[in-house]
Amino acid sequence: MRYTADGPLLVPGPVSVELPDGRVATSDRVVVALCLCKRSRIFPFCDTSHRRKGKSQHAKRAQPGT
Ligand code: FES
Repeated sequence: MRYTADGPLLVPGPVSVELPDGRVATSDRVVVALCLCKRSRIFPFCDTSHRRKGKSQHAKRAQPGT
């Protein structure tokens, strides 16, 4: 298992995730990216939506004097 900064939690697959409403999401990938930002349209799995937020944060950091 690997926690990524500003991104998903990478876990070895296959996985089954029980959601609060009782549904079960499954993935049979070798490595599964679980969304931690809750912006994914395929939650609980990561769809890379976290990158939009990350780029703006990186852009802010890259600006001199901010
Ligand atoms: S962590 Fe990637 S979309 Fe949420």
